Amino acid sequence: MSLPEDIFSFKGKVNLKNPDNTFGLLEYYGANKTEPPDKPFKIYFGRWIADGQRDLIQQFHLTKRHFIGNTSMDAGLSLIMSNLGQVKQNSFVFDPFVGTGSLLVACAHHGGYVMGTDIDYLLLHAKARPSRHNQKQRLADESIQSNLSQYGLGHHYLDILVADSSKHKMWRCQPMFDAIITDPPYGIREGAKRIGTEKDDCFVTDDVKNGHIPQRVEYQMADIFKDLLNFAARFLNMNGRVVFWFPVSRESYTEENLPTHPCLRLDSNCEQTLSTRISRRLITMVKYKEFKDEDMGTAEISVDHYDNKPFRDLYFKNHRAIHNQ
Ligand SMILES: C[S@@+](CC[C@H](N)C(=O)[O-])C[C@H]1O[C@@H](n2cnc3c(N)ncnc32)[C@H](O)[C@@H]1O
Repeated sequence: MSLPEDIFSFKGKVNLKNPDNTFGLLEYYGANKTEPPDKPFKIYFGRWIADGQRDLIQQFHLTKRHFIGNTSMDAGLSLIMSNLGQVKQNSFVFDPFVGTGSLLVACAHHGGYVMGTDIDYLLLHAKARPSRHNQKQRLADESIQSNLSQYGLGHHYLDILVADSSKHKMWRCQPMFDAIITDPPYGIREGAKRIGTEKDDCFVTDDVKNGHIPQRVEYQMADIFKDLLNFAARFLNMNGRVVFWFPVSRESYTEENLPTHPCLRLDSNCEQTLSTRISRRLITMVKYKEFKDEDMGTAEISVDHYDNKPFRDLYFKNHRAIHNQ
């Protein structure tokens, strides 16, 4: 195969020792290693932009992580999510469904200052059942802070709070986060919960408030994603990004099924296939419009693609398990 004659006709001087630009030529001989063809199928020519960083996947691998749980996000996907969120030096990053903080580890590696919330007190306080099969009890120092310290990122830890992400009243009402990176519960292992009560007239009197453990009710999938976008629209800085996984039925999915908010525009939508019937979409949305009072609670979602059933039903109908939800 011959190359076009003018392909190397650069005008500048060649400086092999200290080049301004490095060019590479790749020859593609196909996948048959035993009988490769004499000539390449394709030749690629390009300028070096950056080295790949796949070694980070090993560096942050969950097998070596101090604190993990049943739904800890793997290192590769966590790094991709942080990249989609454009997390960089000094970004203020929040995960409202923080779990064991895997997403925050990746964001801190990219220079973000990180905080999160989770409703699960036992998990955040190292009192939940251990996830490693050879471990009987959690160690007292298993925490998101210790995970960050393990990688020399302890100074990027801001705080983790036990809180319900369906309630936004505890926050000062102003944009503050540069990125919200999260993996909400899909309610597969157990139904997702939020603080609430089935009865309308139920309230807690002052004399029993101290030490009161609030009741929980089912947290419907549609509400999880509406609450997330309502929160993002209000608390993200302008051009800030919300990155999250959204489970779908592959059969009935169309882009119209994705949740929307008037202050957020869809930036990217990737699919990770989980089985023949279901997949999850990795969604990135950018805040492009200032949040006004009339935008309060205006997130919308069509739930038709679950046939009005919880995602859990679809998942178990299928029998082929996803291992990490
Ligand atoms: C899929 S897991 C997140 C896993 C996390 N990315 C990690 O790497 O460990 C979802 C988390 O959401 C939490 N959660 C469920 N309902 C919640 C709620 N109403 N408010 C806040 N967190 C909630 C669960 O306790 C669980 O830890």
